[in-house]
Order: sequence, then C-alpha cells, then structure tokens
Amino acid sequence: MTERTLPAGLHPDTLAVREAVERSQWGEHSEALYLTSSFVQPDAATAARRFGNEEPGYTYSRTSNPTVTSFERRLAAMEGTEAAIATSTGMSAILMVAMTMLKSGDHIICSQSMFGSTIKLLGSEMARFGVSTSFVSQTDVAAWKAAMRPETRLLFAETPTNPLGDLCDIAALAELAHANGALLAVDNSFASPVLQRPAEFGADLIVHSGTKLLDGQGRAMAGAVCGPKALVEERMGAFQRTAGLNVAPFNAWVMLKGMETLSLRVKAMSAAALEMAQWLEAHPKVARVHYCGLPSHPQHDLAMRQQSGMGGGVLAFDVIGATPEALRANAFTVIDSTRVCSITANLGDVKTTITHPASTSHGRLSEEQRQAAGISQGLIRLSVGLEHLEDIKADLCRGLDTL
Ligand SMILES: Cc1ncc(COP(=O)(O)O)c(C=O)c1O
Repeated sequence: MTERTLPAGLHPDTLAVREAVERSQWGEHSEALYLTSSFVQPDAATAARRFGNEEPGYTYSRTSNPTVTSFERRLAAMEGTEAAIATSTGMSAILMVAMTMLKSGDHIICSQSMFGSTIKLLGSEMARFGVSTSFVSQTDVAAWKAAMRPETRLLFAETPTNPLGDLCDIAALAELAHANGALLAVDNSFASPVLQRPAEFGADLIVHSGTKLLDGQGRAMAGAVCGPKALVEERMGAFQRTAGLNVAPFNAWVMLKGMETLSLRVKAMSAAALEMAQWLEAHPKVARVHYCGLPSHPQHDLAMRQQSGMGGGVLAFDVIGATPEALRANAFTVIDSTRVCSITANLGDVKTTITHPASTSHGRLSEEQRQAAGISQGLIRLSVGLEHLEDIKADLCRGLDTL
C-alpha cells in the first residue's frame, strides 16, 4: 500500500502513536503482528543478497522482524536517538551493552544503588570475562571521577534509582565519560522518554526494561538499547544475529501498543505519586519518604531539570521501628494488610504495586551492599498506578495505623 510519509519534526507524543514500519498491502490501521520465525524469499539470488546484508529485506526473526522493527523505530523516535535494538528483557538489554561494548581488561563504573540484577551482572558475571567494575555513589560525580582509570570504557547509570529515586546528573557523567574516551549508558526504565531523554543530556546508550512502563499493564517482558546507528544497528545488530537476545514479535507488539498511552500514563502516575508522597510525609507512622518529586528530596532541583518537572510514579518510604527486626515486621504488616495494592515485584503498571525491596528486588545483595544502597528493612516501595488515590491511601492505612 502506498504510504504517506510522516513529516519531520513531529513531537514525541505524536511519534508514540504514529512511528512504525509501513502498513502491509491490506492497509491495517493497527500495527500488524508478524508471528513468523522466517520470511519467504522471492528467489535464491535475492536471498543471497539479503543474507549478505547487500539488500534490505527480512530473512529470519533472529536477525529482524517487522513488528520488532516497528517497536524499535517508535522507541528510537521517542528517545531522540538514531536507532534502537529490542531484546527479550531489560536484563538482556544490559547484557547486550556489556557484550558488545566491553572486552577483557576493560573497566566499568556503576552506581552502587542500581537494580540488584544489574549489580550482579555488571559486577560478578562480567568479572568472569576479565571485566572489572567499580561501584560508586549514585549522586556524587566526584566519586565517579575518582574511580576513572585509563582502561575505563563504560559508565553505567540508572536514574532515578529503584527504589529510592536518587538521581545521577546525566550531563555531568556524560562529560566525564567523554573526556576519558568512555561511553555513558543510562537505564531509563523508571523515567521513560516521557520524563527524560538521556541522549539530550549527552548519554550515548539508553537502556530500557520495557517490562515496566513501556508495556505498563504487566503483560509481557522486553528490553531495548537506543543509541547511534554505528553502535546499535551495526555492532549490536551483528551480535543479535549471532547471539539471539531477541524479543518475541508478540511481546514487541504489546510494547508498541503500550507506548501509545505511555505519555498519558506516566503523567497521571507522576501526579498521583506526588500526592501520595505528600500524604505519606505527613503520616505519623512513616519515618521518611523518598521521592525526587518532593521539595524535601536532596536532588529535587536536578529532578525537576532532568525529568521534565515530574518525579515519576515510584516512591519509597520507611516505616517506623527501633531495630532491623522491628522495621522488617512493621513493613511486612503494612504490605500484608493491603487488599487493593498488588504484592508483586513489577512497577510502572496501571495497578499499584507494593514490595519490600530488602527481601525481594535487593534480596540477593549482601547486607553491606544493601546498606550502601540505602535499603533498610523498614523500606517499602510503592509504584503508584491509576486507581483512585483515596482507595490506595485507605489500603496503606489498614496496616500503618496499627503500628
Ligand atoms: C531499573 C531496571 N532496569 C532493568 C530491569 C530489568 O528488566 P527486566 O525485568 O525486563 O529484565 C529492572 C527490573 O526490575 C529495573 O528495575
């Protein structure tokens, strides 16, 4: 079908619903789902050219698939990068970065407050391949600078962090990386391109767990890396064809459709999380609220600058308690007393989720690593969804009021 091409300069909200591969000859309005592992070639010579990368065309879904390409193009358009490559999960997107950008003898600098599996992957697993990793303060740029070595090739930041919402100054880290010939990768799963477009602050690679906000309804897992064509399409594309970290076309389609409502969801969740954080801050059984959208957060000004004036949908709070055992028991009481919130690890969902990070997402870390990341036994993470807020407040009061 003859396609009208999109004009240049469209806003991200428009690209979120319009950017995709061309329609098929049937003219479907919703993006097609190509559930196929391979593609039929018109003749042997065309097949040879396509397999040899001399001519564009789909051959095998480990190399590329039109539904996956639609997801990649839409995400790249929203992030403002030249290209994106989709992966099976957020963790495989981070593995993709590590396997393509690093070699034995290289050094990485990461925040010590990142998602637990990212710390395990970049810290322990990569060590088996001769890559060394330094973990430094999330917020202190001077600590990142002090950790720089001649062999440092990658700075990896997650901002805002899970679950405390601490920020990295992306522009400052990009400057530091580039001055030392290294790359900066930013995990943007928590903010999404609606709040923060790390490439605009100088980040080279942007990582996503699509499982979170891009889907937004807890249905499918996916990941992606966005960045320049030379790194993403050529280097990572070649690795994908060999290593097969691919997302399934169905999951890519779920992401693609989820992104159409991303902007509405993220803005609504941010507004709800801010109201919830203010309410929790005033609650007598809450010792501390961690939310970068609150003026009390030490990096509030940076958050407003870097995240389009919004804090995002995830907040954390410490319940009261005198000892680690009492803190844990009180946190469990609040979580177990809820009847609306889902006790589940995912976040960025339209359903509010509640977790105890010290025993779930950060449970595999040592007590020392948890303390460095600021995860106490009394900490509860809340990913605020789209329910009526009064119902969520009442749900939390069921446990909080008994402490
Ligand atoms: C910030 C962040 N990055 C990456 C991941 C990993 O994503 P996935 O679960 O899709 O592998 C998570 C998962 O919770 C996360 O919170």
